[in-house]
Amino acid sequence: MRNAVITGWGKCLPPAVLTNADLETLTDTSDEWISTRTGIKERRISHVDTSDLATVAGLRAIAAAGLEPDDIDLVLLATCTPDGLVPSTAVRAQHKMGIGGAGAMDLNATCSGFIYALTTADQMIETGALDRVLVIAAEKLHFWIDFTDRSTSVLFGDGAGAVVVEATDDPKPGLLSFELGADGSAADILCVHGGGTAGVPRREQYQTMHMEGPAVFRRAVEVMGDASERVIAAAGLERKDVCLLIPHQANIRIIDATARRIGLAPEQVYVNIASYGNTSAATIPIALAEALEEGRVSAGDVIVFAAFGGGLTWAAAAYRWPSRTEPLGVSDAELPQTDATAVELLEPNIALHGKGV
Ligand SMILES: CC(C)(COP(=O)(O)OP(=O)(O)OC[C@H]1O[C@@H](n2cnc3c(N)ncnc32)[C@H](O)[C@@H]1OP(=O)(O)O)[C@@H](O)C(=O)NCCC(=O)NCCS
Repeated sequence: MRNAVITGWGKCLPPAVLTNADLETLTDTSDEWISTRTGIKERRISHVDTSDLATVAGLRAIAAAGLEPDDIDLVLLATCTPDGLVPSTAVRAQHKMGIGGAGAMDLNATCSGFIYALTTADQMIETGALDRVLVIAAEKLHFWIDFTDRSTSVLFGDGAGAVVVEATDDPKPGLLSFELGADGSAADILCVHGGGTAGVPRREQYQTMHMEGPAVFRRAVEVMGDASERVIAAAGLERKDVCLLIPHQANIRIIDATARRIGLAPEQVYVNIASYGNTSAATIPIALAEALEEGRVSAGDVIVFAAFGGGLTWAAAAYRWPSRTEPLGVSDAELPQTDATAVELLEPNIALHGKGV
């Protein structure tokens, strides 16, 4: 029986760190409020494009799988912060990675994008259509942020993560069950107007993120918990079989409430939100790469991935990890160096909107 498994993984975090103390100089907030209400201490600000973050994460995942760029059949890039609308950011990354001729496309399911892309890759491989898919999630969220708006400016950061999904004849590991969902009636509680053909005059195309935080919070806890329970049951498993929950990193209180809802202890949940904030689609593959680096994943472990995001989208998957937890190779891909501080990198945003203090 033809099956698909993750064989390589990688991440790319830009070097400039924006701390809560930095944010106190930009908007009316405090380290104490951000830490207790969100669990975030710092986040990264990218000096390069989304496709550059995607390229480095992608090359690191390809090396970890022991492959060469030309071995890839399809580049599937989850992002809601593309380099531009046309062409896709996936084709920019495909070219920068030196992957000749392989298909490349973007997928926008906001913060649920990685699970949407992973399951799409899995199904394309299981049908026999493709052998090796590079799934990348990359975001440069600070582009959309207005630093006079403290309800969004403290939450988001930039970064990328990637996995290689390959065909295997071993029927046991890989995707056990998944659920993709969306409630378009809630589209306006987390959105960026403009940049497309609807509603916003061309001269006003530069728009910022709008979010109704408490409404998003309530729905997030409900959909992430319920979808996780359904994929565990659909895989024929019980809560006690789950070794690790890797949730979308949006708010530590959402993560804790989700874990409580499905009855998992804190040590069964992977959390790195303090270091990176919410990097949208990229949080899960970054967390997966770090969980592997830290020895938190063993052969045969059942992992549950769960996410929600603007749309309102949600997604969950139960995944049995294959045997290998060590990379087969290491890439020398790096971002171009920069000496710019995170606050310096935010100057274009501040020039446009001002500061919130
Ligand atoms: C945004 C979020 C952290 C706000 O936390 P909250 O506990 O819901 O806080 P509220 O919005 O009810 O605001 C409570 C108070 O804090 C204030 N506040 C909001 N943001 C603040 C900030 N960054 N710093 C200081 N005070 C802040 C509010 O103005 C309000 O003040 P008031 O009581 O005087 O009116 C929380 O709602 C959240 O995480 N929502 C989900 C967002 C999310 O995950 N988005 C991404 C989806 S993928």
